[in-house]
Amino acid sequence: MSEGEEQRSAARASEPSGDREPARERGRTVHGELANAGHRILAPDDAEVEAYLEVALDAPAPTRPHLDIPGGGVPRGEPSASEPDTVVVLDFGSQLAQLIARRVRELHVYSELLPHDTPYAELERRRPRAIILSGGPNSVYDEGAPKPDPAIWNGRIPVLGICYGAQLMALELGGDVLPAARREYGPATVTITADDRLFAGLDRDQPVWMSHGDSITRLPAGFTATAHTPSTPFAGLADPARGLYGIQFHPEVVHTPCGRDVLRNFVLGVAGARPTWTPANFIESTVNEIRSRVDAHARATGGDGKVICALSGGVDSAVAAALVHRAVGDRLTCIYVDHGLMRKRESELLRVTFEQSLGMNLVMVDARERFLARLAGVTDPESKRKIIGDAFIRVFEEEAAKIGRIDFLTQGTLYPDVIESTAPETKAAQKIKTHHNVGGLPADLRFTLIEPLRYLFKDEVRLVGVELGLPDAMVFRQPFPGPGLAIRIIGEVTAERLDTLREADWIVIDEIKAAGLYRSLWQSFAILTPLRSVGVMGDGRTYANVCAIRAVTSEDGMTADWAKLPYDVLGKISSRIVNEVPGVNRVVYDISSKPPATIEWE
Ligand code: XMP
Repeated sequence: MSEGEEQRSAARASEPSGDREPARERGRTVHGELANAGHRILAPDDAEVEAYLEVALDAPAPTRPHLDIPGGGVPRGEPSASEPDTVVVLDFGSQLAQLIARRVRELHVYSELLPHDTPYAELERRRPRAIILSGGPNSVYDEGAPKPDPAIWNGRIPVLGICYGAQLMALELGGDVLPAARREYGPATVTITADDRLFAGLDRDQPVWMSHGDSITRLPAGFTATAHTPSTPFAGLADPARGLYGIQFHPEVVHTPCGRDVLRNFVLGVAGARPTWTPANFIESTVNEIRSRVDAHARATGGDGKVICALSGGVDSAVAAALVHRAVGDRLTCIYVDHGLMRKRESELLRVTFEQSLGMNLVMVDARERFLARLAGVTDPESKRKIIGDAFIRVFEEEAAKIGRIDFLTQGTLYPDVIESTAPETKAAQKIKTHHNVGGLPADLRFTLIEPLRYLFKDEVRLVGVELGLPDAMVFRQPFPGPGLAIRIIGEVTAERLDTLREADWIVIDEIKAAGLYRSLWQSFAILTPLRSVGVMGDGRTYANVCAIRAVTSEDGMTADWAKLPYDVLGKISSRIVNEVPGVNRVVYDISSKPPATIEWE
């Protein structure tokens, strides 16, 4: 434990707390990690609530073969019309490998990320139209440097090597790679020197992003140089006869403006992939796939193929539920637990969308009193989380028991979770299971998971949500923690304090949206502090609550910067809160970044 952590945990241990917790749990999250030492839950969106249902039902671990592909069979057999053309990205350890796959998908071609050493037979079985080799942190000369199956060079499937991938291509095929005199990192200008298909339609000089220590110094037989920079003689190489291309720069990052064109030239031009990976096609094939799965199960078991789904108010569960509903209609039941910790009008939006507009079977459980009663007197953040998780699980257990036999459980698991998970369960469920005593339901209750979003990145989920006609407020909602407003009320959660925070939070969101900033911020919200301060209003003196505003920019919630909101937006938020929210007379703005602060205050 670092000195800072030690001090924090000592300070926390001496804090008074309304509930009785064993001392050793002080300073740790319900998941056993140091509190405020990083992510409280790995999936910083609505996965937590879904995981509670998974836990309540004691869901079996899903089998997620690494082989599956959207719209087709598992594993791949004969090509099917609904199967999208695929580009495989082999991951050599670059943090940008996922980004390459996302960029290819932006060209409407499905792309999947596979381990760098995936055997060629396995690659062939997936029938990719092309293979892209990502960059990586290694030098090609490192002991144990990651290498692909050498059969990928056989010329049957076009290959594009990026950075480390290009160096591997050069070295493995007989060229030379040497440590560069100086590491090239950052912006550079690449000069295109050949009439190469990869660079079709591009101006000769292009700003690009470089990040490499080694450089290709001699080309293998059959290759020609296609581009250079002042310090890199072979910034581009090609052997068009074998469909092999290499580039030393990174086309996937925004700092390479022509990167999208280069990838398009490769994927659509050289590889001839069809751009059919669109939200509409995805919806059609996914709906068909789910319907046939559920029908087949119903035929085999003589049941009706009942599916359930937990709605949290977040985009993933909403899109997953809407997809499954399209496939199986009334056989889907959605459960939404109104714990009273949601923001203003959120539960109502959910009811109107799913019950009225989509005509779904929606069980809305009004558990507001129950959650409040269990939270009474509790001030410790991690105790709040634990109580809320536990209450969720109990409510779900009761509701599921009323539904009777369940054949399928829907989860909004996303592609990054699938490729990163070491265990087959969802990450949130793995964590939660170890901390809650579960198991009121009969052991023979066995069902399988439907994970309709497991091929999608988050931005693709939103596009599918738009295509399905879900409201923008749901599709583009900023992440919201499972424990809701309870962890944004510092100190005890009461009905009155929830009302105060809800009103203040509404104004924050309203003004942020009015200023056109909502989608550019990772999160923006209000916190109700336990402080009261003196103010004046009219002729009188007030002694009322201090409300804090938090707005952050972030890529993934792991690190975050406080948002430099315009003063006039902050000013409007402040004056509206003080004027419109009873009981608040002061507004402060949180200017801490993560780390060392966390995004949430508790
Ligand atoms: P922190 O506060 O750890 O938050 O910087 C990182 C991201 O995680 C969200 N968060 C949670 N999400 N349950 C959740 O589902 C939680 O207990 C929880 N705590 C934090 C937070 O909103 C941010 O997006």
